[in-house]
Amino acid sequence: MWDRIVVFLAFLAHHIDAARLTPRANTIGPSQHALRADNSNWMAEDASILRDMTLGEVVLPGTHDAGAYALTSKLMPGSRFPTPWEAAAIAIAEDLGIGVDRVITPWALTQSLDVLAQLEFGYRYIDLRAGWNGTAWCAHHAEVGVPIADILNDIATFMRTHPGEVVVVQTSHLDGFPNATRVDELSAEVTKTLGEYVAGPEWARGKAFGDVTIGEMVDSGRRLAVVFGDGDYESFGGASKTTWPPEVLHNAYADADDPTAVMKYVRDKIVEYNNSSGEAAPPGTMSKISWILTAQTKTVVGMFEPGARPRSLRELTERSRPAFGALAEEVVQSGCRAGNIMSVDFGGGAGDYATRAVR
Ligand SMILES: *[C@@H]1O[C@H](CO)[C@@H](O)[C@H](O)[C@H]1NC(C)=O
Ligand SMILES: *[C@@H]1O[C@H](CO)[C@@H](O)[C@H](O)[C@H]1NC(C)=O
Ligand SMILES: *[C@@H]1O[C@H](CO)[C@@H](O)[C@H](O)[C@H]1NC(C)=O
Ligand SMILES: *[C@@H]1O[C@H](CO)[C@@H](O)[C@H](O)[C@H]1NC(C)=O
Repeated sequence: MWDRIVVFLAFLAHHIDAARLTPRANTIGPSQHALRADNSNWMAEDASILRDMTLGEVVLPGTHDAGAYALTSKLMPGSRFPTPWEAAAIAIAEDLGIGVDRVITPWALTQSLDVLAQLEFGYRYIDLRAGWNGTAWCAHHAEVGVPIADILNDIATFMRTHPGEVVVVQTSHLDGFPNATRVDELSAEVTKTLGEYVAGPEWARGKAFGDVTIGEMVDSGRRLAVVFGDGDYESFGGASKTTWPPEVLHNAYADADDPTAVMKYVRDKIVEYNNSSGEAAPPGTMSKISWILTAQTKTVVGMFEPGARPRSLRELTERSRPAFGALAEEVVQSGCRAGNIMSVDFGGGAGDYATRAVR
């Protein structure tokens, strides 16, 4: 097994210096390795390496809060709302006499591509936060986003048109005070749209989530693993035959927006995971390490202060891209295991390092 990981990492190292700013650019990189014009079938193209690897061994690029690529000005109600930075944003908006969305939206948007484009770009883990807005399930991040139905349709379209690709979807953050009936409806909506592709516990016949191989999923056509529940908070409902409980995904994120602190956190988590001991890599699970900056009150307040302060999460993320890219490259070059999911904001943006690092 270790041999395979080393081979895979050698393969990644080969690809990383070939990558240019835009993987779709179809240019020859500085090292003259041909660069793939299209990342949408990378798992099928690399099947000889990936087939025997389990979900607990692969490294998938993932998008943090994948649905927050478009937000309305409506706030998402929920027991977690407002978080400290959201409360600060509301207070600033009141002080300045401007709409709350003018302060919140710049820090709440986490992506710029829709979910179909994220998948086509090469991302294979979709962090799908679903909230009940009173009449429908919607994506959300502080504010209400697009209907969940749109995102499920995007995933179905991708699954149908890319028969060699494996995707992990995690439904979490079920805000808006949904009751059990609503949650059952969401579950039914997922099954209705994606059921034919879903590889759940019943399909796995007693195998742990992290022990399922890519080859088994592709061969059976059950190429979509859905983790369903409230993420880090609580499980809703009982055991399901088609979806996995939240506990199968181990999530590590820094909750900081200082890039140096986040990079140190990511590096420590990777070393811990690579060491294969302790809580960083519980058996049978996937470990997600988030390469993300989380807005803090001070930074949000700073957006209205003079100077070269970031005015949005996007700006903050873009500024840290070169440093994160260098860390990603260092991880690949060192042959270190980097967790199973590398989750990022603004996937597919200029200088996308996640799809390069894990490819
Ligand atoms: C909830 O979202 C749906 C879909 O976007 C929208 O049609 C509906 O008006 C929203 N409901 C409320 C109460 O905002
Ligand atoms: C959830 O709320 C709806 C009304 O919004 C109601 O019809 C349904 O019975 C409730 N379900 C539970 C389990 O309380
Ligand atoms: C990762 O683990 C391997 C195998 O145990 C070890 O040789 C290597 O030094 C580790 N790398 C880091 C960066 O900890
Ligand atoms: C790896 O794990 C062992 C055993 O838990 C621990 O003693 C050691 O400090 C760890 N090494 C690193 C680099 O985290």
